[in-house]
Amino acid sequence: MENELLREKVQNIIQLPALPTIALEVASLIDNPKTSVAKLTNVISTDQVLTAKVLKIANSPFYGFQRKISTLDFAIMVLGFDSLKEILLSISLINAFRKRQDKRFDSREFWKHSLATGIGARTIARQLGYRISGESFVAGLLHDIGILVTYQYFHDDFIRIVDAVREGKSTFQDMEKAVLLATHAEIGGWLAERWNLPDQLTEAIRFHHRPELAEKNPQLAALVHFVDFLCHKVGVGALSYETSKEYDPNALKLLGVPEDELTQAFYDSFGSKLREDLDRTFVGI
Ligand SMILES: [Fe+2]
Ligand SMILES: [Fe+2]
Repeated sequence: MENELLREKVQNIIQLPALPTIALEVASLIDNPKTSVAKLTNVISTDQVLTAKVLKIANSPFYGFQRKISTLDFAIMVLGFDSLKEILLSISLINAFRKRQDKRFDSREFWKHSLATGIGARTIARQLGYRISGESFVAGLLHDIGILVTYQYFHDDFIRIVDAVREGKSTFQDMEKAVLLATHAEIGGWLAERWNLPDQLTEAIRFHHRPELAEKNPQLAALVHFVDFLCHKVGVGALSYETSKEYDPNALKLLGVPEDELTQAFYDSFGSKLREDLDRTFVGI
């Protein structure tokens, strides 16, 4: 019952960012088969800051182009519409939730962790030939969005939770349950519902710590779960309180791929430079 109240509270937060409009506008253009590169270039280039950010990410190691990409139409051509959609969604979300740094919440580190999980999930999904590669980026990007909601809208509760975890009194998720009566995974799921995200995405967010509970697409939830663990393992996203130091072996059963193969796919794509690459790419985004 109280949990229901919190759900209502989360979904009715007035200031809760709507899914940013430019991202939606571009996403619907991209989904329209009649949209040309020229049309997209026109829409994006009306925003110079956005254009500069797209170019910066297009030239990052995550897209691996040897030649420098200096114009928007060339960026759109070589990146493809799907990657462009990912980039725009990331930029819009980071901006929508931009908050100043706080000693208990390092938002830069949070976004680095989110992006790394998105990029990692997408890369592994492609390598393994899953049909979920587009969704896997967004699922990874948004998996911990509930933490951000708690930090911004239930600030006092957030402080209580983090302080107790830091003092070694409890784990993050146990404290969330004790203080909020819901975890960031559930809260993120509610936000995803409010944003009308597809069911399998909502579910991957809601069950990223318990992928076996997913029904629509357990593989997607399992992939995010495991990549989240890998990101923490390589130290991306030093959210000192939420460490995901362990993974659920059942997630690997859902994925049908052994741990070493998945880990190798992750390392092959990022090597040891993931942190530096993220730092360089996202400073100023
Ligand atoms: Fe999480
Ligand atoms: Fe995470």
